[in-house]
Amino acid sequence: MLILGIESSCDETGVALVRDGRVVISNALASQAEVHARYGGVVPEVAARQQLAASIPVLDLALERAGLGWAAIDGVAATYGPGLAGPLLVGLTMAKSIAFARGLPFIGVNHLEAHIYANWLYADEPTPAPQFPLLSLLVSGAHSELIVIQAHGHYQLLGQTLDDAAGEAFDKVARILGLSYPGGPSIQRAAAAWPADQPLPLQVPRAWLRGTHDFSFSGVKTFLYNLMQKPNPPPVAAVAAAFQAAVVDVLATKTVAAARAVGAAEVALAGGVAANVALRERLERDLRRHHIPFRYPPIAWCTDNAAMIAGAAYYHLSQGERADLTLDVQPSLALPLG
Ligand code: KG4
Ligand code: ZN
Repeated sequence: MLILGIESSCDETGVALVRDGRVVISNALASQAEVHARYGGVVPEVAARQQLAASIPVLDLALERAGLGWAAIDGVAATYGPGLAGPLLVGLTMAKSIAFARGLPFIGVNHLEAHIYANWLYADEPTPAPQFPLLSLLVSGAHSELIVIQAHGHYQLLGQTLDDAAGEAFDKVARILGLSYPGGPSIQRAAAAWPADQPLPLQVPRAWLRGTHDFSFSGVKTFLYNLMQKPNPPPVAAVAAAFQAAVVDVLATKTVAAARAVGAAEVALAGGVAANVALRERLERDLRRHHIPFRYPPIAWCTDNAAMIAGAAYYHLSQGERADLTLDVQPSLALPLG
C-alpha cells in the first residue's frame, strides 16, 4: 500500500510517499525556519502563508523524486492536529482535495503518533518491527511525554511536563543566550564549542519530581535568565553545555527509570528534541547498561516531516479506517489514550 502523506502543522511543509507504513520512497520538505528566525519564534499567520506558497511545489517534488504517477497511490493522509490552525488547514485541505479528486481513501493523522512511528521508517536496509510493550520518550517543541504503547494505537500516558516542553526550553534558553531560532540545534552547536575536558563554571539545577514520571523545565529557564542578567555571566558555550547536560540528565534518568518500571521491551525516542546528539548518546549508553533495546529515527525524521505522517497513516488505513472529508483541524489534539 503506497500512501501519500502531508505535514503542515507548524513551519515545515512536507510531502512523502511511503510503502506499507515503513519504506520511504520519497520525502520532500520545505522549511520556513529562516523566515521565522528574525522573530525568534514561529509567527502563525506568516507560517500559514508560507505553507500555501510551498505546498504545491513540495507535492510536485515528492512525486518527481519517487518517479511515480498518481495511479500508484493507494491512499492520502495529512496531519489534522496538534499544531497551528492556519498551517494545518493548508495541508489538510490539500490532502482532502486530492482524495476527493482521485477517489482515494483519506485519513487524518495525529502528529504526535506520527513522531513515534518515525522510528520504524527506513529507506534502504529494513529495520526490525516494533517490540511491545514499548516506551516512547516524545520530546518536541510543545510536548514532553513518556508513553507506554501496548500494541499499535494503544497509548498510556506515564508522565508529562508540568510546564514547558523540552524543545520549548531549548528555544527559550537560546533566546536568553542570544542564539538563533530554532534553539535546539543552536544550543547543541554552542555547547559543542565548550571543550569536553574543561570543567563547567556553573551548575544548572534539575527538577527531579521524584516519585513521578513527570518533568518540569521552566525552573531551568528562569535560573538561566537570572544568571545572564548578572554582571560577568559565564561564557555562552559553557551555559549552553550546562543547560543541555541538565536537560539530557533529567530526560535520560527518568526514561531509564520508567522503562524499568513498566518492563519495556524497547525504548523509542521521538520528536524534534530526539535530534539532540547528547540525548541520543546518553540514552544509548544508559539503556545498554540495563539491556533494554533502544531506537531513534535518523535526524531528518526526528523533526517535522511527512514520511512519518504517511507511516502512521498506514496502520489506520490498512485496518479499514477512513476519515470523512468534513474532518477539520484540531490544534489541541492529544494522543488517543486507553
Ligand atoms: O517535532 P518538532 O520538529 O516540532 C514540533 O512538533 O514541535 O520539534 C521542534 C523542537 C524545537 O523546539 C527545536 O528546538 C527542537 O525540536 N530541536 C532540538 C534539536 N533539533 C530540534 N532540540 C535539541 N537538540 C536538537 N538538535
Ligand atoms: Zn513535530
